[in-house]
Amino acid sequence: MSSSLAFRNIYNSQPDISSFTPGRVNLIGEHIDYNGGMVLPATLEKGIFISLKSRSDNRIRIYSDQFCRVEELNINDSATSNWSDYALGSIVFANKAGFLNGGADIAITTTLPLGAGLSSSSALIVGILKLAASLSKRPYDNIKIAILAKRVENEFIGIPCGIMDQMVISCSDLGKAIALDTKTLDFEILTLPNAYHMAILHSGEYRLNTDGNYRKRKEECDKIKEIIGHNDICNMSNNDFALLNNISTDLKQRARHCVTEHQRTLNAIKAIKKDNVFKLGLLMTESHISMRDDFKVSLPNIDSLVHDAIDLGAVGARLTGGGFGGCIVACVLKENLTTWRQKLLSRHPRAFSVI
Ligand code: GLA
Repeated sequence: MSSSLAFRNIYNSQPDISSFTPGRVNLIGEHIDYNGGMVLPATLEKGIFISLKSRSDNRIRIYSDQFCRVEELNINDSATSNWSDYALGSIVFANKAGFLNGGADIAITTTLPLGAGLSSSSALIVGILKLAASLSKRPYDNIKIAILAKRVENEFIGIPCGIMDQMVISCSDLGKAIALDTKTLDFEILTLPNAYHMAILHSGEYRLNTDGNYRKRKEECDKIKEIIGHNDICNMSNNDFALLNNISTDLKQRARHCVTEHQRTLNAIKAIKKDNVFKLGLLMTESHISMRDDFKVSLPNIDSLVHDAIDLGAVGARLTGGGFGGCIVACVLKENLTTWRQKLLSRHPRAFSVI
């Protein structure tokens, strides 16, 4: 159902404004957006439909078709680890930015699976902030919206995420990738190889950014930064590595992932520009191995799904997103896609195709 139809059914009135905001898949450059690295995410054709009507009082009502209920909140409420926190935080920050002056009624319908590592939460936040900004008729730019959306996650929800998801969702063209420098926020929009499909399959293992695993990796990276005395983990020198000699193997492995993942992403960007799909695929697979062995954010079922994706003909495959569950992304020749997918899913009955 469209979000505007849901809005009319639930609230018995017309929304002021509606939009579609895409989810994202990260092709390569994982867990380095909070370490100043290069990342290469792309927007999806699946995403979130949002309809919104501003209110002059402080009430907020939020309906989502995923939960089939309306949450009634107030603009002064805090996050309560509920699904509605993302919408509530967006309205609170839209007020801080001067886009709204009070609460709102919101209806959300989605084609994006939740907890899949495809950024449904960032899509919701960016979507609401853009709707509120358009309503206010104040000038806004996509990068500022991305920064504000990150603040909602960091400050309101309490997730220490980086800027990758918000930037690609706010700034990219639909279905395109962006080569994003997370240190400067400079980016370039890239078209992906035409004969290939970036297939996304859910592993059947569910994850949440709020489950503590993500925070643990972020804290390990903060510890490395403290030891080497600067924030640029992705460009660590041999001297920096020497400083890590006396600490745990775990931290050395985390640092190695950041350095090698940053280089792989730079090489993947070059490969896309030269239309070298085999190189791109190889780098994606190497990225998975690094996430499995060095950054340790994979799970045995996901390793096996990646292994079989390649065994059945993908030029490369990897876990995508924060890890500990969620989706894999595999680069597959379009003409082989249907057979490849069928064979892979028959080997992995818990997995399902997303795109
Ligand atoms: C989550 C975070 C992002 C990024 C990825 C891992 O999606 O929201 O900022 O850190 O994990 O690459």
